[in-house]
Parts: sequence; structure tokens; C-alpha cells
Amino acid sequence: MKKILVTGGTGYIGSHTVVELQQQGFEVLIVDNLSNSNIEVLDNIEKISGVRPYFENFDLAAEAATADFFARHSDIDGIIHFAAYKAVGESMTKPLAYYRNNVQSLINIMEAMRVHNIQNLVFSSSCTVYGQPDELPVKETAPIKKAWSPYGNTKQMCEEIIEFTTAATNLKTIALRYFNPIGAHESALIGELPLGVPNNLIPFITQTAIGKRECLSVFGSDYSTPDGTAVRDYLHVVDLAKAHVVAVNRLINGKNKKNMEIFNLGTGNGFSVLEVIEAFERINNIKLNYKIVPRRAGDVEKVWADTSFANEELGWKAEIGLDEMMRTSWNWEKKLAGKA
Ligand code: NAD
Ligand code: WQD
Repeated sequence: MKKILVTGGTGYIGSHTVVELQQQGFEVLIVDNLSNSNIEVLDNIEKISGVRPYFENFDLAAEAATADFFARHSDIDGIIHFAAYKAVGESMTKPLAYYRNNVQSLINIMEAMRVHNIQNLVFSSSCTVYGQPDELPVKETAPIKKAWSPYGNTKQMCEEIIEFTTAATNLKTIALRYFNPIGAHESALIGELPLGVPNNLIPFITQTAIGKRECLSVFGSDYSTPDGTAVRDYLHVVDLAKAHVVAVNRLINGKNKKNMEIFNLGTGNGFSVLEVIEAFERINNIKLNYKIVPRRAGDVEKVWADTSFANEELGWKAEIGLDEMMRTSWNWEKKLAGKA
């Protein structure tokens, strides 16, 4: 049984990936300091998969604790590194916390990989590295634009750290650039747990629908898009989780063609904010209270992925459509509110 370390494994994407790994017969170890998740996620993972993953709670940005963990677990076959802070707005006010957490934790992990000869690393990157691309759909070869936020900058820096470290060692790495992951597990046992007022569209929609928020603000209707609202490539978190299993298998089985590979993960389809709202209302039979307000600072107009490289090379394709994304997001919100 191959042993995979999932950092940030009690978080949103991590928890879904742990379930998929377990269902594919991997043994999973989780490290998470619960800075943006809670321990009950382990119970819910166990309810879905029937297996409770091994868990340790510590800060991966702490060098000694990370070294100590790897000294005790040097037989790991691969690492999927999700652990990071991810709130773009918060990163503008706490840049150093973001650089420390996101960059230092990667350095500590790669150092431990070097020391213990652990070769395979899958890294969570983001479409945010592209900014507003000049050409759509955006390919992996598109130029990286100057980051608009410290968060986005940490993803760019981490990719560069991985690139140079991979070139200097025998490590094999895959960076996955996610577009907009949304939705929740079909069981409604795991999903996204936003703290405080959500910044992201889908939790804001579901919290408005459940009555936690009064009204959804649609940021801008004067973009150069068919209905004037901004366009994104939303993908279901379970599709995304499955891509991680494919990626880590690729590395373990030596199927990678370069020591660092980069893949876009999206559906390849762009949907506008109004199209998302329409799908949510229709599939869940709910009227959503929303109003158009001015653009949000820093938002790009439109971005969606060219997924052909991931489709062809990884043999992975997103299968779940927007309606299912909206249905599972709503089921998860109802479950959180005790209404399902
Ligand atoms: P999340 O916040 O739900 O999960 C991250 C987990 O990492 C949390 O459980 C948190 O407690 C843990 N963590 C953070 N810093 C840690 C540290 N120093 N030590 C140990 N644990 C730590 O976030 P998510 O949405 O699941 O995102 C996972 C990864 O994917 C992140 O790297 C994020 O930047 C990236 N990503 C997310 C999105 C998105 O829209 N959700 C898009 C692109 C990329
Ligand atoms: C989607 C669309 C908003 C909230 C963020 C990060 C990015 C990546 C994915 C991690 C935009 C509009 C939103 C609201 C709205 N994360 N919106 N009303 O900004 O595309 O990407 O998550 O790597 O780095 O920046 O996602 O969900 O915030 O917004 O109208 O209340 O919904 O303007 O067009 P975004 P989002």
C-alpha cells in the first residue's frame, strides 16, 4: 500500500482528496494545524471511506516540528501539499503571515524530502498566477504576470522554488493550477468551511439562500462579457480531488515526462456570475436576493482554462457540470445549517 502525506488534509480540497486516495487504496497521513479547518472532518472522512486517516496537528512552517515528523515518517511515497493560507483580501493586510506560512512550509517540506529521499511532490498552485491572461483559454505556457496580491505572489514564488529545487535534486514534482474549485461531496459530509463573511462567490450565494446574509452583491456588470458580469472556470472539488490521485500516481509510477510538470485544472468552460446565479436558482428551486454593485478591486474580467494538456497527458477530464456544483454546494450549506 503506497503511503501519501496530505498536508492541509482536513481543509476543503484536501479532505476530498483524502477520500479519493483512500478509495483508490492509498494509505493516507494528514498533517494540518487546523488554522482553517476542524478536527471533526476526520470523523466525516471516516464515515465516507470507512478508514480514519492518521493525523498530526502541527505548523508545517515550523522547521523543527516538520523535521521531527519526517524523521518518524521517512517511508512516505508521495506528498500532496495543500496546506497554505488562501484568502486573497487578507493577504493584502497580512502579507508577511502569508509569505511565512506558504513559502516557509514548502521549504521545510522540500528540505525533508531531500534529507529522506522522498521523491514525489504534488503542489497546489492557482490560476491566479496568470492574472488577466492575454489569450483565452489560458494555456500553461501563458506568461506569468506580476502578482496582484501577496497570496498570488506566494504561489508564483513556490512554483519557482519547486522549479529550481527540482533542477538541483532528484525530486519529481507536479504543480496543479486550479481554476475556481466549488461544490461539495455528494454525501454532504465534507465541503468548504468559510470563516466569517465569505469572499468567494459560491459560499456567499449559499449563505444568502439560507438566510445568513441578506443580499448577494454581484461585483460589476460592465465587463466586456456577454452579460457584463465576470467569467470564471468553476470546477467541482471531487473532479479536482481525482486529478490529485492521477498526479501522485503519475509520479510514483515514473510516468512524468519532466521533473517538474505544470497542469491547468478546470473544465475549460467559462460561466458568468449571472449564469452561476441562474443555475443555482434553477437547480435548487430558490429565488436568490442579489443586486448589482460596482466591480471589486483586483478582479480580472474573464479567465478559463485550456485543459487539453491535462486531458491528454494526465488522462484526466472534469466530468461534473455546473448544475451538480450548485446542487452539492446547496446540500452542504443546508447540512451546515442543520436543515438537511
Ligand atoms: P483550506 O483552507 O480549506 O485548506 C488548507 C488547510 O491547510 C487548512 O485545513 C489549514 O488548517 C491547513 N494549514 C494552513 N497552513 C498550515 C500550516 N502552516 N501547517 C499545517 N496546516 C496548515 O483551503 P483549500 O481551499 O482546501 O485550498 C488548498 C490549497 O489549494 C491551498 O494551497 C490553496 O492556496 C490552493 N488553492 C485553492 C483554491 C480555492 O479556490 N479553494 C484555488 C486555487 C488554489
Ligand atoms: C468569482 C466571481 C467575483 C463574490 C479566487 C482567488 C483565486 C483562486 C480562486 C485561490 C468574481 C464574483 C464574488 C461576491 C461576486 N483562489 N463575486 N460577488 O476571485 O475568481 O478567485 O478564488 O487560489 O486566487 O482570487 O473567485 O469566488 O471570489 O469570485 O460577484 O460576493 O464572482 O467578482 O467575478 P475569484 P471568487
